[in-house]
Amino acid sequence: MPKIFEARLGMIKGFIFDLDGVITDTAELHYLAWNTLAEQMSWKFDRTVNERLRGVSRMDSIRIIQQHNNTERTEDELIELAALKNEIYVDSLDQISPNDFLPGALELLKKLKSQGFKIALGSASKNSQKVLRQLNALEYFDVIGDGNSVAKSKPAPDVFLFAAEKLKLKPEECVVYEDAEAGVDAAKTGGFYTVGIGPSNRVGHADLRFESMGEATFESVKSFFDDLFL
Ligand code: BG6
Ligand code: MG
Repeated sequence: MPKIFEARLGMIKGFIFDLDGVITDTAELHYLAWNTLAEQMSWKFDRTVNERLRGVSRMDSIRIIQQHNNTERTEDELIELAALKNEIYVDSLDQISPNDFLPGALELLKKLKSQGFKIALGSASKNSQKVLRQLNALEYFDVIGDGNSVAKSKPAPDVFLFAAEKLKLKPEECVVYEDAEAGVDAAKTGGFYTVGIGPSNRVGHADLRFESMGEATFESVKSFFDDLFL
């Protein structure tokens, strides 16, 4: 076992998954919704700015967009604008179907279920139930931790701690899958084992990193964490 894990030794009994960018790729739909709002408001917005919103809560996202545009608005105005974006985003979720799991994600959930692991969601989104319903994925999750479960969003560890507590597991008994820098930060702060999905400049600080969910199979993760599995 790699030396870095020795201090946190515990048997892995559960997996906690981020949603957007791990189970399904809603990042594009978030981008399109923010872009529609930005066009209506004549704001500068592009994919580089959108990348900074990955894993970040809706209200923190609109603050980043405002900073990018050097504008200042009242909290009430921000709440109203974020609600407009959300209406556009939620409408667009109707197009998600069970064909929209990221490659490898459904297979992994099925494998973990068949092996008896507990599974939770740990997402910043307040729309996670709708996304999981569209995917037909609710049955795989024992616990849903999302933007409605906790007040402090990632990089605070709260949503993962909430999910672990509901699973009746300790952080060192859980592996967190994350595609966002703030998400890996959150999981590490909480004392979880981390699997990063994406480039190293984004999630290189995870214990283990894969370019895509397709590579992050149960077998790959198990062989890396080695003695932490029975
Ligand atoms: C995260 C996304 O999962 O959820 C962010 O990566 C998004 O881009 C955040 O802003 C909040 O989502 P929602 O659905 O509550 O607006
Ligand atoms: Mg994500």
